[in-house]
Amino acid sequence: MAKAVTRFVCQACGAVHPRWVGRCESCGEWNTIVEEVAERRPAPGGAARVAFVGLRGESEPPARIATGLAELDRVLGGGFVAGSAVLVGGDPGIGKSTLLLQAAAALARGGRRVLYVSGEEAVEQVRLRARRLGLADAPLHLAAATALRDIAETLGSERAAALVVIDSIQTMWLENLESAPGTVGQVRACSHELIRLAKASGFALVLVGHVTKEGAIAGPRVLEHMVDAVLYFEGDRGHQFRILRGVKNRFGATDEIGVFEMTEAGLAEVPNPSALFLAERRGNIAGSAVFAGLEGTRPVLLEVQALLAQNPGGAPRRPVVGWDAGRLAMLLAVLESRCGLRLAAHDVYLNIAGGLRVQEPAADLAVAAALASAAADRPTDAGMVFFGEVGLSGEVRQVPQADARLKEAAKLGFRAACLPRRSGRAKGRPAAPESLELDEIGHLADLVGRFGREAGNR
Ligand code: TYD
Ligand code: MG
Repeated sequence: MAKAVTRFVCQACGAVHPRWVGRCESCGEWNTIVEEVAERRPAPGGAARVAFVGLRGESEPPARIATGLAELDRVLGGGFVAGSAVLVGGDPGIGKSTLLLQAAAALARGGRRVLYVSGEEAVEQVRLRARRLGLADAPLHLAAATALRDIAETLGSERAAALVVIDSIQTMWLENLESAPGTVGQVRACSHELIRLAKASGFALVLVGHVTKEGAIAGPRVLEHMVDAVLYFEGDRGHQFRILRGVKNRFGATDEIGVFEMTEAGLAEVPNPSALFLAERRGNIAGSAVFAGLEGTRPVLLEVQALLAQNPGGAPRRPVVGWDAGRLAMLLAVLESRCGLRLAAHDVYLNIAGGLRVQEPAADLAVAAALASAAADRPTDAGMVFFGEVGLSGEVRQVPQADARLKEAAKLGFRAACLPRRSGRAKGRPAAPESLELDEIGHLADLVGRFGREAGNR
């Protein structure tokens, strides 16, 4: 006999409490506890013995289903994996449905059986989008449905599909749960059922998930643990490009990114993001420096912009877009105490042009160059890229994959690179193109000194 149990689940973190409380003890959020009724089935039969095996053995690499959208396939680690589940998260309106419709249509055109279940939009709306994207002829199987019991029944009885897209998991519901669609209980139960089916029938499953305004997928931790890969689709609504970022991947590398551009005709792949991010750069302006960054395994060149404004009275403002405000504060302190750059009486504005968010410490040197250039009112060398981490004593430290960064810089026509001085361990020139002039820096003061005395005296 199935027995109904009542439990209290936090909608923010998924923690289960025995009784209702005002504040979740697990994540500290207020008013997030919701009562849910779950069915507990008694375990059938007795227990079996678990067989242990050695680490060595014959295992095939997982079968990949490549979509042909290179930017998506790279983030997935070579394509969807049969029998696995991928969560694609992102803000509403960022382009998740567009991306998945394009991927699904590409696979269907390649002769794969693809099912697309839309819980948010009616069939006519999806057809309209397909027409606009020029995909109406793709032999895709489309359904508008939200009742998971019906969907599961259909998936279990139909001819096996290669890919099933559920758009979105927050609209799905199981009738034996009393909570509303989108609550942790429903999201968890529906995902569980779909993932079980994917494993049993061998189709690749994509769950689309909306991100709440706090930046988490509803039922966040529960879902992230249940799926094999988590991809976030992000971007600034004001900019046309979108980044697909892998944050978890059991079958591939994380930290890979795919870059797309939202156009009239859907998402276009951007095989060369550096060119896109630098497209609007103007040389010869003080306060700008090009950072040779790395996103996953991929080198990306970005423009760092700094602007200083006099602020003799009051607390100086330090707004930052695309970088860490704490990191900027640290760098300003190092510039002040170790390099004699006086910025205390200035407001400092810092921006990573294009809207990308940089997380690498390797950006320190480029940010410092932009700041020193702004302070001296002298432009940095427009043909030079910068990368390197800065320590608290002002020393410039090595960062990973100098070779890849230098290669990208040369490919985009840069003439020189300012980078950390190599220590005793790493002798010899990095495997950089011969044409590239290398300007190695040991201490940040050496860089600030290039901008002349004005920088130090300001
Ligand atoms: P959508 O894929 O519906 O977003 P999500 O599923 O993440 O909520 O994308 C919606 C936005 O994309 C919408 O504001 C319009 C825009 N868009 C384009 O600019 N070009 C296009 O070809 C398409 C289909 C959408
Ligand atoms: Mg959508």
